[in-house]
Amino acid sequence: MRYAVFGNPIAHSKSPQIHAAFAAQFDLPGFSYEKLLAPLDDFAGSVRAFFDAGGQGANVTVPFKEEAFRLADRLTERAAAAQAVNTLKLLDDGSILGDNTDGAGLVADVLRHTGIAGKRMLLLGAGGAARGVLLPLVAQVPAGITLANRTAAKAEGLIAEFTGKAAGISLQGCGFADLAAGFDLVINATSASLAGEALPIPASVFAKGALAYDMMYGKDETAFLQQAARAGVTQRVDGLGMLVGQAAEAFALWTGHRPAVDAVLTDLRAAL
Ligand code: ATR
Repeated sequence: MRYAVFGNPIAHSKSPQIHAAFAAQFDLPGFSYEKLLAPLDDFAGSVRAFFDAGGQGANVTVPFKEEAFRLADRLTERAAAAQAVNTLKLLDDGSILGDNTDGAGLVADVLRHTGIAGKRMLLLGAGGAARGVLLPLVAQVPAGITLANRTAAKAEGLIAEFTGKAAGISLQGCGFADLAAGFDLVINATSASLAGEALPIPASVFAKGALAYDMMYGKDETAFLQQAARAGVTQRVDGLGMLVGQAAEAFALWTGHRPAVDAVLTDLRAAL
């Protein structure tokens, strides 16, 4: 049972540690999971060599998720909607299935803290990270999803793509300046926290009792979660649980076993 994660760079990846901890929960003799640095100009060649040498599945991280989407012979519905693939699986007929478990990982982690059904949700950002999680969020049937982005047209365009896939859910795209108030669940899918920058959104977007979620994580609280704290939000969650959640979903796709995540997450947090 040979698995791997492909990225460039890849040295920092926590995935081998996470999957080793999952595998230890089951009787899986011969399970291995390694980090593989793919050259920027030959991701496809690296992946094919891995499968030719007996690999059965792989995770894909930055900057290859779009290339993995193009490489896959078949796609799950959520990977097709994401237009990005973070999980590859070799099927019995030799074809490669592409899945995207990021959204399911996010949903599973949010649900550890609060419900989603019927909630007023605000998703910030309209890049690959936001696109990657929209379909699984829609599937949880929130009352509505407002997608707000620095560049309003990108938010409107992305929402237009999902409108046919969200019966009964109010979907809206807008710029930060046009944001309404009072969301129960506010998820940051922008890369602003990478630069340590707060977002130009009013404190009023957070309803009383709201949960703020940042898809980024770090040893210290992210810029977005610090901003939420200043707005009086007490429920603040970073994306480390999403990382473990997307891994759990990939592990289940490959092995048929659904791992427990809590202890793995606690150990990762302690090591940040
Ligand atoms: P990713 O794959 O991480 O989503 P991306 O596709 O480059 O990366 O998208 C980055 C997202 O973060 C975009 O929504 C971007 O806003 P624009 O579409 O207006 O560029 C957003 N973003 C990045 N830096 C930001 C900042 N400092 N403030 C607000 N939004 C930011």
